[in-house]
Amino acid sequence: MKTVRLYDSEKPPVLVVENVPQPQPRRGELLIRVYAAGVTPTELLWYPITHNKYGEKRSRAVPGHEFSGVIAALGEDTAGFEIGQEVYGMNDWFSDGAMAEYCITQPAIVAPKPPRLTHVEAASVPIGALTAWQALFDRAGLQAGEHILVHGGAGAVGVFAIQLARFRGARVTTTASARNLEFITGLGAERVIDYRAARFEENVSGMDVVFDTVGGETLQRSWGVLKPGGRMITIAADAETTTNDRVKQAFFIVEPNHEQLARIGDLLEAGDLHPVVDAVLPLSQASAAFTGEVRQRQGRGKLVVAVAAQEGTVEKG
Ligand SMILES: NC(=O)c1ccc[n+]([C@@H]2O[C@H](COP(=O)([O-])OP(=O)(O)OC[C@H]3O[C@@H](n4cnc5c(N)ncnc54)[C@H](OP(=O)(O)O)[C@@H]3O)[C@@H](O)[C@H]2O)c1
Repeated sequence: MKTVRLYDSEKPPVLVVENVPQPQPRRGELLIRVYAAGVTPTELLWYPITHNKYGEKRSRAVPGHEFSGVIAALGEDTAGFEIGQEVYGMNDWFSDGAMAEYCITQPAIVAPKPPRLTHVEAASVPIGALTAWQALFDRAGLQAGEHILVHGGAGAVGVFAIQLARFRGARVTTTASARNLEFITGLGAERVIDYRAARFEENVSGMDVVFDTVGGETLQRSWGVLKPGGRMITIAADAETTTNDRVKQAFFIVEPNHEQLARIGDLLEAGDLHPVVDAVLPLSQASAAFTGEVRQRQGRGKLVVAVAAQEGTVEKG
């Protein structure tokens, strides 16, 4: 089968499409025929891509930890699943990802693909939506009527943060580029600040929650817009290695979660949540997808690699 693997002995590291034997599911595993996989460009810089759980060096990792596809084979002890079932999911960061014709996953980290979504749309969801869900609901405990500032509202995580906050009944202010102001208002934000034209801290204050997907100076400037007792959540990679206690407490890393993904799937199926696909590339161009050399991007939502044509399923009209 074709797969994409990271050769990080090269400087800079390169992604190579190559042929490898198809993996076989072991006990408790599912083999997925991958139709589409989502791209998180910064993933290539993350620790689990170059190290295993025991801190040892890892090489030739397969990136793309979110996918949509069809179950192609079942390991033992996978009751409740069947060959041919359409699922979407997010693999654990230390496992191989889904930039491949087939990937291995586990029942606890997949959910039924929402039928009204194409595989490309479904593959754009898991990491962005789970990150937003865990940030807003698990970490911040966002309540109806509260006001949240979302930094990076047009990004793959931001588009779900805005929609989920609105679904919860919260008020949303967000920062984004000028080109995406109208698009973001359509997602439900009541106020959008062009981050290049205005300093957000001069325009907002008294926030119950700030959800930061940008980091650096944006995070530093955000503490002052929180009301006393307000909650800060950040996912920006530069917060991972910080020695600052309050930044450490604000930072978290998304985890796969079957139940949350199933609930997100219900919201997508009901039309209460919408996927946002920025651009679609073939597997042969996966490297460009990760290095950011994609001309057709609008900077909205997720870049998706379409691994296979969607046979045997009904495409959305
Ligand atoms: N910790 C975790 O679990 C976790 C999970 C997922 C992602 N992440 C990290 O979270 C970050 C966002 O991920 P993503 O997938 O949403 O990225 P993305 O799709 O590239 O979106 C980033 C967004 O931020 C906007 N932006 C850039 N600079 C900004 C600024 N100064 N103020 C406001 N907005 C700004 C960009 O807008 P323009 O392009 O229009 O400038 C873009 O819309 C990445 O660093 C990623 O590594 C962490």
